[in-house]
Amino acid sequence: MGAPREQFGSRLGFILAAAGSAVGIGNLVGFPVGAAKNGGGAFLLMYAIFVVAICLPVMIAEMTLGRASQKDPLGALTSLSGGNKGWRLAGWLSIITPFMIAVFYLVITVWIFGYLVESSIGNLDVLADPATFNHFITGNSLFFYMAGVLAIVYLILQGGVKQGIEKAAKILMPALFVMLIGMVIFVLTRENAMAGLKFYLVPDFDKISASVINSALSQAFFSLSLGMGIMITYGSYIDKRSNLPTSAILVGLTDTAVAFTAGLMILPAIFSFNPSVNPSDLSESSISMIFSYLPQIFLALQDTLGYIGASAVASIFFLLVFFAAITSLVSIFEVPVAALMSEKNIQRKSSLLICGSLLVVFALMCAFSFGLFDFFTSFISYGGVDKPKSFFDLVYDVFYETILPLNGLLICLFVSYKWKTQAFNNELDKGAPDFKNSFLERYVNFALRTFIPIFLAIIFANTVALKYFGTALIG
Ligand code: PHE
Repeated sequence: MGAPREQFGSRLGFILAAAGSAVGIGNLVGFPVGAAKNGGGAFLLMYAIFVVAICLPVMIAEMTLGRASQKDPLGALTSLSGGNKGWRLAGWLSIITPFMIAVFYLVITVWIFGYLVESSIGNLDVLADPATFNHFITGNSLFFYMAGVLAIVYLILQGGVKQGIEKAAKILMPALFVMLIGMVIFVLTRENAMAGLKFYLVPDFDKISASVINSALSQAFFSLSLGMGIMITYGSYIDKRSNLPTSAILVGLTDTAVAFTAGLMILPAIFSFNPSVNPSDLSESSISMIFSYLPQIFLALQDTLGYIGASAVASIFFLLVFFAAITSLVSIFEVPVAALMSEKNIQRKSSLLICGSLLVVFALMCAFSFGLFDFFTSFISYGGVDKPKSFFDLVYDVFYETILPLNGLLICLFVSYKWKTQAFNNELDKGAPDFKNSFLERYVNFALRTFIPIFLAIIFANTVALKYFGTALIG
């Protein structure tokens, strides 16, 4: 037997770390943009229903699997299935998926780090120039920034669960909350802010279509860090006395509250910058929102706040997003690191070095996908789209869009039909005696057995049809 399994030092530490994983770029930018384009309050309502009805049961299932097995996803699915080969394969999928998502998430975090450094040294005018982003993502400075982000992630993870992950979350998360609230207060006191608020909150039910429903569910699933093995791995670091359902509810609440609050910052900022904007025409992606649109808003602040004031606001914004991204990156990278440690019985630092080297190789291939090397920029064609996809697009499509819901589906099937509801409840009720036989427990059991896997299967099938065969099944 190796050393006893590492553990979080406190329940608060666990909740902050899990919330740190869940709160990411998706909350701060993806969610507000998605809400603005898809019916405002109507989208918010639908999102909230998905979080409660679908995502929370899956989160509880993942945490319970981790705590029962005291292992990473590969170890959990292998040991709880009694070594079944098929489920071991599913276990592998829950290691490879977070690794590959870590690859593309690292690249975006590196860009944010670069923008943070540039805005803090007062280069807002450069960042606001539309040509800058392309220069930046194909320039040499990118590699310095990548080294910087990797060093930070390494420093946190080498400290282990308690001294690394938990400690970082306890510093970064409160700082993030304070900065977010400060930004919201600042933005809401700008001119025309209320028009943005109205656009964000007033529901427009006509916008809701099958594809909007699909995207709200995917967004909620991703935002809560589900299907990536993270909650299984973090669940394996908590003790049997902790109350899992309450912890999951707190993590879900925090994540949703941050996403909602981020909307109170982004939309009023957009309207105060340009009162006649139609947010439905806003940038296609969160990426262009962060790296092209927002820097222009920050630059315009110079008129009222001066050079230093505008740079300070921009720096706080990028620091906020950077903190959110780092805690997510740490959580996702911990999954393959923990799996390698236990599979090969090696020390944390060796595992970090091995996984880290692989991460660098793949991340470079992604970073080369934006014009630096043709091979990676026009990597592959599929789905009947004329323009070839880059290596970055491929990783995004396959792992983020496609495999994530599949992993969620497999977790539901595993818990309900292989591990079985009774064994699941036995573990779940440890530390949560009131949960036993409660309405909520029966709901979670029922949902995991029936409609959640059906929903996830539909999303998976629809994505495969759309992405790789060029025809949508729904929407
Ligand atoms: N929940 C994160 C977000 O909303 C997504 C994420 C988590 C990405 C963990 C990577 C790792 O941005």
